[in-house]
Amino acid sequence: MNNLNTLSSNEDIKDKIIFLRVDFNIPIKDGKVIDDTKIVKMKDIISKLLSKKTKIILCSHLGRPQKNGKEELSLKQVKTKLEDIFKKDIVFLNNYLNNETKNNIRQSDKELFLLENIRFYKEEEKNDLKFAQQLANLADIYINEAFSCSHRAHASVTGITKFIKSYAGETIFNELNSLEKIFNKSNKPITCIIGGSKISTKIDLISNLIKKVDFMIIGGAMANNFIKYNNFKIGKSLFEPNKEETIKEIISVAQKNNCKLIIPKDVIVSTNENTAGKNKNLSEIESDDIIFDIGVNTLKNISETINLSKTLLWNGPLGFFENDFFANGSNEVAKLIKINTQKKLLTSIAGGGDTAAAIKKAKAEDGFSYISTAGGAFLEWLEGKILPGLKVLEK
Ligand code: 3PG
Repeated sequence: MNNLNTLSSNEDIKDKIIFLRVDFNIPIKDGKVIDDTKIVKMKDIISKLLSKKTKIILCSHLGRPQKNGKEELSLKQVKTKLEDIFKKDIVFLNNYLNNETKNNIRQSDKELFLLENIRFYKEEEKNDLKFAQQLANLADIYINEAFSCSHRAHASVTGITKFIKSYAGETIFNELNSLEKIFNKSNKPITCIIGGSKISTKIDLISNLIKKVDFMIIGGAMANNFIKYNNFKIGKSLFEPNKEETIKEIISVAQKNNCKLIIPKDVIVSTNENTAGKNKNLSEIESDDIIFDIGVNTLKNISETINLSKTLLWNGPLGFFENDFFANGSNEVAKLIKINTQKKLLTSIAGGGDTAAAIKKAKAEDGFSYISTAGGAFLEWLEGKILPGLKVLEK
């Protein structure tokens, strides 16, 4: 059991303003939310806090505005979706770093307030303490409900806790307890599936997980680095340059630790995302091709591995699953994991927003032992790293 400070059920929070760090970093297209899983997950928790006559300031980031620019990253786009889900008017706070904000919130007849993207302020990622104190001044207590952001030492995750009574929320408590319960009794063989496109953030983590698992399956865009390393063409596919040494190291650590590394032997390629793909062996990939999914033989190989496994971790889809032309790999893998888990042959854990969305698309979300919506935080936890956002909430 974790030793985090949590709000006890009899603590009097009536009339308190709660600064609630949530993770509404969700996919948005043309101004509309396209996957509300992370918001829906918070519905009961927020409703329960509101039923105690509190006011809640929702604070989240969306994307990486300091790196990629603010355009299309306003959380205003999420407001309507929140209002639909909570059936309440929500006050959107754009400029909130002033002394009046707290009084205005206290005097308002509304209960839910949504801050503009916290990463619009450069001080957030720098964990600037003056900024953290300004945030703390907005509320009476702080609750972190964003396990998925707790690997970030940012002002709204760590700094703020220096200035205000702070707690780990239910999401964090439940997430940690579920993960600890499964990991303390993980049966071998253990298989890890890593895919997705956040290549640089994951490729380093793979080397650590390799020491603990029997099979490491690599899919998604990061597999392209391995394919290229093995001297096959990858055409116009996504890949991350200058990763040869990392790949060499991963292959060597896998060999030393008796971990079987499985990378695609064949792939689905197309010249654009609007045209159905062709199955090609790696030697057939042409300079105009873009790899969008794993091929049929790779899928067969992965399925056989899953059938051998007793514990499985999955982070990152195996292809461009959002597009029906290229969803087959992720769909079939999700369905097989569901079947084996339901037959009690497998304990399965999945993590990451995209992975959760791929599982939902395959209608397999009721077939996993545990699904976490956290991506990077989930992986860092698996590595045994101490998450800074949790460290500051320890008793
Ligand atoms: C996530 O989607 O995993 C979290 O919101 C963290 O996002 P970040 O990787 O941009 O910090």
